[in-house]
Amino acid sequence: MRKFTPEELTSDDVALLLRAALMSPSSHRCCDWEFIVVDEKAKLQAIASCRENGAAHAAEAPLAIVVLGNPTVTDCWVENASIAALMIQLQAEDLGLGSCWIQIRSRLAPDGTPSSEVLRELLGFPDELEPLCVIVVGHKGMERKPFNEEHLQWEKVHANRW
Ligand SMILES: Cc1cc2nc3c(=O)[nH]c(=O)nc-3n(C[C@H](O)[C@H](O)[C@H](O)COP(=O)(O)O)c2cc1C
Repeated sequence: MRKFTPEELTSDDVALLLRAALMSPSSHRCCDWEFIVVDEKAKLQAIASCRENGAAHAAEAPLAIVVLGNPTVTDCWVENASIAALMIQLQAEDLGLGSCWIQIRSRLAPDGTPSSEVLRELLGFPDELEPLCVIVVGHKGMERKPFNEEHLQWEKVHANRW
């Protein structure tokens, strides 16, 4: 979902989103992730500008959750943080909310600065943490058709061997 209404999220909904993230499985249950909840308009606008394309919808979202991992704890930080991010998205859908993943890792701001460094400056997290993505969440601002099952690529599934 890349369009949101101006309606704020309730604190109960935000708590449920974070609860889902904190329940995520992680390798060796290392729980290396961290989450920064952003609801200040100026910061949401700054997140929207941390990429040339693909992040503009953060400016109109009421909430963004920055999902960070810690490569000094585990080489599975990307996997751990990805699962936590998706848990937030599944919980959002369950609450009837819309969400979108904004990729931060390996992405650049319009001036060529890594998007991760733009967020580090904006949000003040320590050097050992790496932001993987930002999940923006809000009340759905448009209708979306359910996934068209005819588009499922069953040919990508292989039995016992390629
Ligand atoms: C790893 C990953 C990175 C993504 N990065 C972005 C992004 O930077 N900006 C964005 O608007 N959507 C991003 N998305 C959302 C995808 O574009 C979206 O999941 C895909 O288009 C499927 O959309 P659908 O739910 O409409 O089928 C990302 C999704 C994933 C899984």
